[in-house]
Amino acid sequence: MAEFRLPKNSRIREGKQFPAPDGASRTKTFRIYRWDPDSGENPRIDRFDVDLDKCGPMVLDALIKIKNEYDPTLTFRRSCREGICGSCAFNIDGTNTLACTKGIDEIKGDVKIYPLPHMPVVKDLVPDLTHFYAQYASIRPWIRTQSPAPPDKERLQSREDRAQLDGLYECILCACCTTSCPSYWWNGDRYLGPAILLQAYRWLADSRDEATGERLDALEDPFKLYRCHTIMNCAKTCPKGLNPAKAIAEIKKMMLQRRGV
Ligand code: SF4
Ligand code: SF4
Ligand code: FES
Repeated sequence: MAEFRLPKNSRIREGKQFPAPDGASRTKTFRIYRWDPDSGENPRIDRFDVDLDKCGPMVLDALIKIKNEYDPTLTFRRSCREGICGSCAFNIDGTNTLACTKGIDEIKGDVKIYPLPHMPVVKDLVPDLTHFYAQYASIRPWIRTQSPAPPDKERLQSREDRAQLDGLYECILCACCTTSCPSYWWNGDRYLGPAILLQAYRWLADSRDEATGERLDALEDPFKLYRCHTIMNCAKTCPKGLNPAKAIAEIKKMMLQRRGV
């Protein structure tokens, strides 16, 4: 196995080393990005050797063990532990994914864990998602109607209409796709990125929503939608197996249809 080395000109430095406890026979090395804005120091990579016989099977299990037993200052988000809340998204072994659904044994060699790429970092593995959530709010992610609601029942959908939301409603807004998208890296201030555009399409595709025209008007902009160049990183990385690029293509199709093209 190749020895882990930071690039020569890296501003990230080798950090602390935490060896496995005596008697551990099946160890795995975790190399984790650390940065504390209050320290005034450059980021570092800490090394933790974990006894796999005393650890759960997922990368999140190892992170929790490291925080509990090696270094309580290690900072990361997590909540549900079952791929539903979207908070444990990191760059693991070079891919953006969820630590709670990524098996340690899926990774050959050392496990490298970094924050999601190209986002400001709050501390260690915690990215600042303020802009991401503001972009989400900007698409007004709720059903918008003009017609009065039926007096005695909910607004219902046919099975076929409901099926139009498959592949969309499952998105947990983990931001793995958006932070893997080169267009978002360079134009994230104005381009909405794959996660938010998939969500935008989720409401456009909803038969109960009556704001299609306004939603499309809001996306008719050289940056918000049209910075997608179909590079497909988003579909490759989504831990829920969704295809944001396809949703983006559907929005573009709706734009053309309403222009009569
Ligand atoms: S589309 Fe997939 S990767 Fe993107 S935010 Fe939703 S669940 Fe996460
Ligand atoms: S297909 Fe579009 S949204 Fe997905 S990674 Fe590529 S440019 Fe980004
Ligand atoms: S902890 Fe909720 S998705 Fe991983």
